[in-house]
Amino acid sequence: MAATQMEQLVSLCKRRGFIFQNSDIYGGLQGLYDYGPLGVELKNNIKAAWWRAMVYERDDVEGLDAAILTNRKVLHYSGHEDTFSDPMVDCKKCKGRFRADHLTDGKCPNCGSTELTEPRPFNLMFKTTVGPVVDENNIAYLRPETAQAIFTQFKNVVDSTSRKLPFGIAQIGKSFRNEITPKNFIFRVREFEQAELEFFVKPGEDEKWHEEWKQNRINWWVEQGLPRDRFRVYDQKPDELAHYAKACSDIEYAFPHGVEELEGIANRRDYDLGNHTKGQEEFNLEAHCHENPESTTKLCVRDEENNKWIIPFVIEPSMGVDRAVLAILTEAYTEEDLGNGNSRIVLKLKKHLAPMKVAIVPLKKNSPEIMAKCHELKKNLMKLGIGRVALENTGNIGKAYRRHDEIGTPLCLTVDFETLEQSPESVTLRDRDTMEQVRVPTSELAQYLRDYFAR
Ligand code: GAP
Repeated sequence: MAATQMEQLVSLCKRRGFIFQNSDIYGGLQGLYDYGPLGVELKNNIKAAWWRAMVYERDDVEGLDAAILTNRKVLHYSGHEDTFSDPMVDCKKCKGRFRADHLTDGKCPNCGSTELTEPRPFNLMFKTTVGPVVDENNIAYLRPETAQAIFTQFKNVVDSTSRKLPFGIAQIGKSFRNEITPKNFIFRVREFEQAELEFFVKPGEDEKWHEEWKQNRINWWVEQGLPRDRFRVYDQKPDELAHYAKACSDIEYAFPHGVEELEGIANRRDYDLGNHTKGQEEFNLEAHCHENPESTTKLCVRDEENNKWIIPFVIEPSMGVDRAVLAILTEAYTEEDLGNGNSRIVLKLKKHLAPMKVAIVPLKKNSPEIMAKCHELKKNLMKLGIGRVALENTGNIGKAYRRHDEIGTPLCLTVDFETLEQSPESVTLRDRDTMEQVRVPTSELAQYLRDYFAR
């Protein structure tokens, strides 16, 4: 797809119920969006595709779903309290605040003034207090990444599953960052979802696994409908790396607003497990860890070969789910010229990602016979487990096709009088992309759809 203008996507998302501005009726809250009836389906399908590839199709990954509120000590020993900040400048003229590294010409993006303060660090974590007493001892944070609970639960997962290296722990969930300048629709927001895998390996095998995960993740993106030539892999320079990383490769995608990071694949070495570990002196840590007198646990595994305890290294593919939604919508959005002055908008989503799988469209509105057949078909289709099936009752078949093209429904199933009157009974299936129609006997429908949606 040619680069789509962001405005067209934003407009489609609102018009068809994918994504809305949060708190819209009160003027919104910057950097927050809500997923509407179709957005929640698309996002769930993307998360399911990720979980399937990362957990179900592998034999070396377990899942986790941890709390969002995080003990302050976790984010102290992870280094986030000290270092998880962006450089911020103030405009002395209009009082606007901006990320220093986002300014290209040293001028205020609001008023053009060059009178800016020196950059100073702004910590991105949202702070709160837990319980009824508001004081220093009760401070907690909304997690800025899902990863930390994977590290702090490492020992519990190992003990309960008897996993040996290499193995991973996957998690999908909300993360929060008080971004200085949220922008570009759902690209940079203050509340977002991450899908993260922490893959634990033996020290020394980390670079090989880093390379392997890079290829694995690019292949996954291609399966979701993003062509290989729309990616760029950017290896971060040493001064760009997060405080925990030994190396990091960004998978960048050509978003409507420019080529930017879709997913990061970091080599976090033994930094996190090391920092959360009690009695670090026993281990050969590569990381410059905090002294940790407060942890009660050694986050390590037994290396049977060398008969010693080791702290594993970690490779971390970390995907932003909202950025995935934006990239997948960008790629799917197509405007087609149908000739004779007609055109249509089609979301050419991969079948497994489409919010609605099949739309049942009655030829005639409010015909009791046709509607009864539509209800019967919907009930039967639901048993196939192919996903959401929509039942239309607008009576305008052309409008229904247009709406379902725009929201990416792969098939429209039309029930007409022939369905009821002819033997064998049959329905029409219209393909979203080719607009071709085939007549399928209802007795063969289940198998037809099973084959069509099989992955
Ligand atoms: N645990 C590693 C980590 O959090 P990151 O590069 O800061 O690394 C990983 O974030 C991914 O999370 C990014 O590649 C991006 O897709 C997504 N992400 C980060 N900040 C975001 C934001 N403010 N809004 C939307 N997505 C964001």
